[in-house]
Formats: sequence, structure tokens, C-alpha cells
Amino acid sequence: MVVSFIDLTNNFSIPVIDNFYSPSELEDIKNELKLLSAVADLKIFKNDGVAVDENGKLRQKSNSLFLDNLYIDKRNLSKILTINRKLFSEEVRTKLIEKSLFYEHIFYSDFDTTLLNFYGPTDYYQPHRDISCFTALTFFKLEEFSGGNLVFPEYDIKVEAVENRLFIFPGFILHGSEEVTKGIRVSMAQFINYRTGTDR
Ligand SMILES: [Fe+2]
Repeated sequence: MVVSFIDLTNNFSIPVIDNFYSPSELEDIKNELKLLSAVADLKIFKNDGVAVDENGKLRQKSNSLFLDNLYIDKRNLSKILTINRKLFSEEVRTKLIEKSLFYEHIFYSDFDTTLLNFYGPTDYYQPHRDISCFTALTFFKLEEFSGGNLVFPEYDIKVEAVENRLFIFPGFILHGSEEVTKGIRVSMAQFINYRTGTDR
């Protein structure tokens, strides 16, 4: 696990963690992704939880699936939903709050959902904002892929979405995925929130 920070502005940076999952965790995750990609190809879950533009048009071209909706109260049957708790570990917390106490939000939050996006050639996700306190995005390759960089257009920043690389950023930050030109890339988005609240 190697933590670095990308500066979006001169006073705000976002964490990037390379080699986030261990080789055995990665293998378990990818085995489940391979099974799920067959389901995703059936288009059953297409457009699950996708941002739309001001005209109601989808911002995304890819297959998406909220894992929480698939496993419901049997989350322990999913290796992915079990292993991705690592995000909330003390190991990660220690590394992040060294940089800023702001990241304590991640560890005090009491609610998160996991969205998988399967991107094949010509698939993309136009810039959008998430409804989340923080979004954690991790990338996996099911087939050697090209393209699909992560972009933060407001800051003119583009980062390579290499396998097992995790990005954490506040959901209000505009972000998108460039078109995948070859292969299959999967992104796992964990939307981190607080359960309690009322309408403003
Ligand atoms: Fe997003």
C-alpha cells in the first residue's frame, strides 16, 4: 500500500493509494468481478445509479451494478463487499489523517454503498458530481485495457486508472472517466455518507 497525494489546488489534495489490495485480496475481488461481468453483459443492471445531465440524458456509457442491491442482507456472500471494508481500516485511517484531520469523516461515516462499473471499448462516464461525502474509486482490469483515465476537469487533471489504484475525493468534485479504447476496465465506487439527516 503506497499512499501519495495529488494536488487539485495549492491548498487541497486528494489521496491516491497504489497496490491497495494484497495479491490474495485482489485475486478474490477479480474472481467475483469475472462472475459479475457475465451478469453485467446481460444488461440487467444497466444504468443502475447513473448520473444524468440537465436534459435527463445519461452521462455514462457502461454497465453498472450496485452490489448492495444484489446481495441485500447476505453481504457476507460477497468477497468484494467483505474485502472492500479495508477502506475503513485503522491502517488507512492512520495514513490519511497524517495528512489532514478532514479524512476523519470517512471513519466516522456510518453508511456506504458499492457501485461497480464495467467499461468495455467506447464506454465512458462524462464529468459529473456524486451524492456522497467522499467517493473512493478503485480500478481493476478484466482484460488488458487502454484509455479510461480518471479526469478532474475543473482542475485540468488527468490520472491513469491503473489496476489496484484507489482514489479518494469529496463527491462534490467534478470527475469523469475518459473513453476506454481497448479491453475491459472495472471501477468500484464506494460512496461514503452519513445515514442520519433531514431535508434542508
Ligand atoms: Fe462518480
